[in-house]
Amino acid sequence: MSYLVTILPRRLFLNVEDHETILEAAQTHGVTFPYGCDAGACYVCAGALESGSVHLRIEERNITAGEEDADDVLFCLAQPTSDCRIIMEGVLAPGEYPMINASCQVTQVTPFGNDTVEVTLRLPAGKKVEFHPGQYLQVILDKDTHCAFSIGNIPNQERIIQLYVGFSDKDETSHRLREAFTVGNVVNIDLPHGRCYLQDTKSTQPLYLIAGSTGISQIKSIAEQCIADQLPRDVHIYWGVPAANGLFLDRYFQRIANDNDHVHYTAVVSEPDDEWQGRTGFVHKAMLEDTTGLENAEIILCGSPGMTYAVLDDLLAQGVKEEQVQSDVFEYAPR
Ligand code: FES
Repeated sequence: MSYLVTILPRRLFLNVEDHETILEAAQTHGVTFPYGCDAGACYVCAGALESGSVHLRIEERNITAGEEDADDVLFCLAQPTSDCRIIMEGVLAPGEYPMINASCQVTQVTPFGNDTVEVTLRLPAGKKVEFHPGQYLQVILDKDTHCAFSIGNIPNQERIIQLYVGFSDKDETSHRLREAFTVGNVVNIDLPHGRCYLQDTKSTQPLYLIAGSTGISQIKSIAEQCIADQLPRDVHIYWGVPAANGLFLDRYFQRIANDNDHVHYTAVVSEPDDEWQGRTGFVHKAMLEDTTGLENAEIILCGSPGMTYAVLDDLLAQGVKEEQVQSDVFEYAPR
């Protein structure tokens, strides 16, 4: 018999057989779980039992949530005797990298002419910084002001991170960011954030990457991974913007689509002027017009919550299953 153990605050779900400890099950499933001795001596694995009950191996006693001992349970000994919710810091999902803080130097700022800039940061030498393409970082302006930006490139030896930042003159935080992103400045960041990245890099299913405006940054990183790792799948990139001057990476995407047979790129402008010769309307409608079947597709959405949920609803109406669609929005703005 197995029980479902929910690990908070990370909200990871673990099936634990009744003969296993929670630590053993975590290790079996590739979950990184803090531990030291694995024998009830070091207390590294101690956390709280919020609900449910466990039996402690070696000590041969039971603990139920709410009891005095429930705040200090050794999960290397604890075998669940019911479904449980536990609180344990430092637990990482399979493949997840630990979050770190870093001070980076701004080495380059390239304007695109529509109040969007490409900011290049150099990570500090000697500090291990890992992230999955598709994840994001936070720029820490002060203890209460953290600004999230998708990382626009893949991990590299040069320790370079690219961000695509759209500024607004009406916004105080935007003014502060513009100042912070000055060549030579040092900015504090923490990373990696987000679970919207390719979980299965062996998949051969078609991948649809749909972005609105600066959401293209996340798409760029994932597309670069597909090319660099020669992933065996078709990659369809759709980028929607209100006006054509918002396509600040248009040439870049045209180039990678020309250079890679399995990469396809479509720009879509929703409020075109007379000069625009390309696709018009909503970006996902263009994608649906081009596609005959999405039953095996993996779809990643990068944009505002409003755009993301509108696209999701249309995809679900077309028979796409919710589990085929990923977006950071589902995590930071659940509905
Ligand atoms: S790992 Fe040492 S007490 Fe659990």
